[in-house]
Amino acid sequence: MGRDTTKMRDYWEQRAQLNAAFYVDTSLDYDNPNMDQFLETGRRVVTIALDEPPAVQPAGKAVALEIGCGMGRICLALSERFDQVIGYDISTEMLRKARELVPDKRVDFRLTDGASLPGVADGSVDLVQTFTVFQHIPSVDVIQAYVEEAGRILRPGGVFVLQWNGTPGAIRWRLRRMVMAARQRLGRGDRYGRDAPQFLGSRIDLDEMRQMLSRAGLELAATSGEGTLFTWGWATKS
Ligand SMILES: C[S@@+](CC[C@H](N)C(=O)[O-])C[C@H]1O[C@@H](n2cnc3c(N)ncnc32)[C@H](O)[C@@H]1O
Repeated sequence: MGRDTTKMRDYWEQRAQLNAAFYVDTSLDYDNPNMDQFLETGRRVVTIALDEPPAVQPAGKAVALEIGCGMGRICLALSERFDQVIGYDISTEMLRKARELVPDKRVDFRLTDGASLPGVADGSVDLVQTFTVFQHIPSVDVIQAYVEEAGRILRPGGVFVLQWNGTPGAIRWRLRRMVMAARQRLGRGDRYGRDAPQFLGSRIDLDEMRQMLSRAGLELAATSGEGTLFTWGWATKS
């Protein structure tokens, strides 16, 4: 699949126009998304990342960066703890909605090509966070590219907090994707399009992720939820 991100951009641009809050958090009601619950989950994600065991604290509190910021709920929560926050997303419409929701100028929303963090200097960031983004990326090469970017931009003492799909069974996962794609072609797919490859994404074993991080100069210091869709990792840069 390589690093071609065109289909990812098209999918997320379309979803952001249809119902951004729902596609950021599909546990919400499609017709009446509860925005208080939406923002509360953003705060909760940051609490898990930074406060609850086995969280690992970054040495500095100057700059935090989120990969795949959607409507900016996590950036908003991060802005209560960091001087400056940068949110990158592949969708211009998500970013437009994020700016509306989070007017604070200390939070900078930026467009990415879907695999890199252009314009962020090497060793300039204290925390890189990503939540419910890698699980949707169909190309492992793109995830690898982001992991390398996290390793590049973190300062020594910085932490990369990432969540990804760590469910076991590569073959089972591929079969599941094929069955869902076939059902969609037959008109029996999910009415909200959550069976598209751009939503189903890919899975990565813990050891594979550990190696990916290590190649990027990062050490996986702690994990939680191993073997589930919500596998979390805390990787440090020394
Ligand atoms: C499920 S939403 C999660 C948003 C945010 N992390 C949150 O939890 O509030 C996934 C987001 O990732 C973005 N996204 C998908 N693929 C991406 C990529 N390759 N690079 C950057 N952003 C991407 C989508 O546009 C969408 O805003």
